[in-house]
Amino acid sequence: MTGKEITVHYYEFNHVRELSSEYQSLLEEASKACADAYAPYSGFKVGAAIRCSNGTVIIGNNQENAAYPSGLCAERVALFSAMAINPQAIIEQIAITVKTKSGNSKEPVSPCGACRQVIAEYEHRQGKEIEILFSSESGRIILVKGISNLLPFTFNSDNLTTHEKDNLS
Ligand code: THU
Repeated sequence: MTGKEITVHYYEFNHVRELSSEYQSLLEEASKACADAYAPYSGFKVGAAIRCSNGTVIIGNNQENAAYPSGLCAERVALFSAMAINPQAIIEQIAITVKTKSGNSKEPVSPCGACRQVIAEYEHRQGKEIEILFSSESGRIILVKGISNLLPFTFNSDNLTTHEKDNLS
């Protein structure tokens, strides 16, 4: 047995002013989308904004439902929308922000496991890392470059191919 380690890289910012103007504007779009979230059950509004390589910005926000599991996170609303609008889209960046009832969330809201898996799918499909920026109401912001920093040992279609090969041999 060998104990091994995986290192993840992230960048931390204490205020939106520390971000490049490109990130600032994407976060602003996420913030606008956040205001329109439909979150009557949790009161936890999330907004996401995606920048594609052609410059298009696609937004999403969480959509809740009285049948709770039928709702969807802001990130997946934005990701699925981007790919529905343009299946050839190359996603460069996604910015995520939050608005809580108390208004003082300290921790940046990182994408849930299911949203990480969806980011991983599109990152693998496009063969290019996606930059993920997530923020809190305190102003603290985290940036990761590539989903492997949020989801090590990612499952993707390569695993399916390997599995098929295993079955054939
Ligand atoms: N939510 C998101 O939209 N994105 C996340 O990354 C975490 C959670 C939503 C789902 C639900 O509507 C509410 O936040 C509370 O979990």
